Amino acid sequence: MIDLSVRVGGLTLANPVMPASGTFAEGLDKAIDFNRLGAFVTKTITRELRAGNPLPRVVERPGGLINSIGIPSKGVPYFLEHTLPYYASYQPPLVVSISAPTAEDFAHLAAELTRPEISAIEANISCPNIEEDGKAFAMRAASTEAVVRQLRAATPLPLWVKLTPNTGDLPEVANAAEAAGADALVVANTILAMAIDLQTFKPCLGNVMGGLSGPAVKPIVLRQVYQCARTVGIPVIGCGGISTTEDAVEYLLAGATAVQVGTATFVQPAAMTTIIDGLAKFCERRELDRISDLIGAVINEEADEPELAWVAPRS
Ligand SMILES: Cc1cc2nc3c(=O)[nH]c(=O)nc-3n(C[C@H](O)[C@H](O)[C@H](O)COP(=O)(O)O)c2cc1C
Repeated sequence: MIDLSVRVGGLTLANPVMPASGTFAEGLDKAIDFNRLGAFVTKTITRELRAGNPLPRVVERPGGLINSIGIPSKGVPYFLEHTLPYYASYQPPLVVSISAPTAEDFAHLAAELTRPEISAIEANISCPNIEEDGKAFAMRAASTEAVVRQLRAATPLPLWVKLTPNTGDLPEVANAAEAAGADALVVANTILAMAIDLQTFKPCLGNVMGGLSGPAVKPIVLRQVYQCARTVGIPVIGCGGISTTEDAVEYLLAGATAVQVGTATFVQPAAMTTIIDGLAKFCERRELDRISDLIGAVINEEADEPELAWVAPRS
């Protein structure tokens, strides 16, 4: 029997595979046994009701999907009344993804959601900070540190912080989140992207720009997970283009303690459970008793420290 359990930011998960926020909903219970997942991660919720971005919101490109869904939200009362009881009937821990336009709003929402049915908060700080210049909180270390500090003070729940891959300062941002009290990092959200319709000469998305996800982003985000895992002491959860067992293993080797699967579920609804089965088989083949033996096991014979000057040294 292979031990697939992992310890991630205050929680012990039965296995390291969970959905990426926004790519998973209750209806998927027709396709997979929810009790097999390492955890649930909800679509990001906000305090207020939100309609989301103008249509069209999704366009496919080779190897990926560009979406500008925005964060349509039915608000907290709906979530507490309908969504929470639904997940409470299953075994995996529930991680609730939240977003807000200010650090104070983030903290209020985290406090409101500090309930026994919720196992952890995932703060999606890839959203605009309206009190500064509208740039996402996670673009810079200072705004990351400020919002994570407020969140930390607002809830005793394990706090996962989801970063954006669109910053050039990722190791600094990761360090700031850790210093402010994050229990784990999720690396990463989607990569800012665009597509143009050659018939109309108009952008394909109603919002002009959107976020790229799917296999196309995997090598980029894998590198970012490697950088972050070498920089911080808290667990890193890898998220970006994971479709197969091999993708998940690559992320674990790069230093991820767990993985989130997003776009792949749209193509293959059973992608997550297929990956879980595949991880057990991979360990068997490699004669490993525990999946955790793979975490950070990439061999870098060239150097103790990465050679590229812009990679932050291990702290
Ligand atoms: C349709 C769609 C909706 C998404 N909604 C959210 C969201 O509400 N909150 C969030 O943090 N990330 C959201 N994401 C980003 C995913 O959680 C994930 O970070 C990203 O898609 C990369 O993983 P993937 O390549 O496996 O899809 C969304 C992605 C897609 C494709």
